[in-house]
Amino acid sequence: MKRRIIVTGDRPTGPLHLGHYVGSLRSRVELQDVHQQFVLIADLQALTDNAGNPQKVHDNVLEVMLDYLAVGIDPAKTTIFIQSLIPELAELTMFFMNLVTLGRLQRNPTVKAEIQQKQFGEGVPAGFLVYPVSQTADIVAFKADLVPAGEDQRPMIEQCNEIVRAFNRTYKADVLVECDLLPPRAEIARLPGLDGKAKMSKSLGNTINLGDSAKQVAKKVRMMYTDPEHVRPEDPGHIEGNIPFVYLDAFMTDRVRFEEMKAHYQRGGLGDGVVKGVLIEVLEELLDPIRTRRDEFAKDPAEVMRMVISSSAKAREVAAQTLSEVKNAMGIIYT
Ligand code: TRP
Repeated sequence: MKRRIIVTGDRPTGPLHLGHYVGSLRSRVELQDVHQQFVLIADLQALTDNAGNPQKVHDNVLEVMLDYLAVGIDPAKTTIFIQSLIPELAELTMFFMNLVTLGRLQRNPTVKAEIQQKQFGEGVPAGFLVYPVSQTADIVAFKADLVPAGEDQRPMIEQCNEIVRAFNRTYKADVLVECDLLPPRAEIARLPGLDGKAKMSKSLGNTINLGDSAKQVAKKVRMMYTDPEHVRPEDPGHIEGNIPFVYLDAFMTDRVRFEEMKAHYQRGGLGDGVVKGVLIEVLEELLDPIRTRRDEFAKDPAEVMRMVISSSAKAREVAAQTLSEVKNAMGIIYT
């Protein structure tokens, strides 16, 4: 396979959870062996809807970094960086904002949906509305040609490529590179929340976090929504929408046993407590090593911050090179 350049990242607004693990973290661990990978901790982007809470954003940078290290994103293979440590990204954003119209930003389906969900209405912060432009800077600064993300992010990639083409056309240059979306593998379904809602999400409060203790994980599994018609263990039960089974399907490696459990539950005789007990074991098998590594790194937060600051400096060199090409193409150089 051709070696590609990848940029992905997360907003540091809270601890990362199992939904992140299934959707992106575990594939980053594989991708770092195949491609050149940049992962950003998007603190500037997090501020676009957290202007009043910079402390939260600041403190979650360390938490996200610990989650990355714990799952096996390796700073020797992946360049992890903090967005605000690269002022070139903000400069690129300023140049790119002139290449996109307000109307186009307002029609971006991803942003439109988020504005509705957050009930901003007319009160949407300008920084929030233009975050696709800043995200374009994050991607093109590294000349990334591959961006792993969900299908719901496709409009973001289109917006990015439109800006790239507008730049190259307007300044008759061949500086910026278009990118492709790398959608998640088909078998990686989106993980529902503990409450059965379609998505595990911090704002819905239905997550299992990578940093949760074994006790917290067990407690959360015990609270999971199952089948309301499955009152006594002897009753036949339903699998569809039964959250412990959805999770077992996602994480259980012993597929024979999984199929047996499903059949047993459907014909009756398998209690929810037993199913949840198995799920707790399965999740612990995954989470225990992650937690152990997380705790180990968390003993020396200063060292973890040194790591991410030093790799941010490396990322900055790449972004500075692109910015200088951009300014050259535009003729915005003063000597
Ligand atoms: N939008 C991403 C998120 O919400 C974070 C992000 C910022 C990003 N810049 C990016 C992702 C560039 C991919 C490429 O988590």
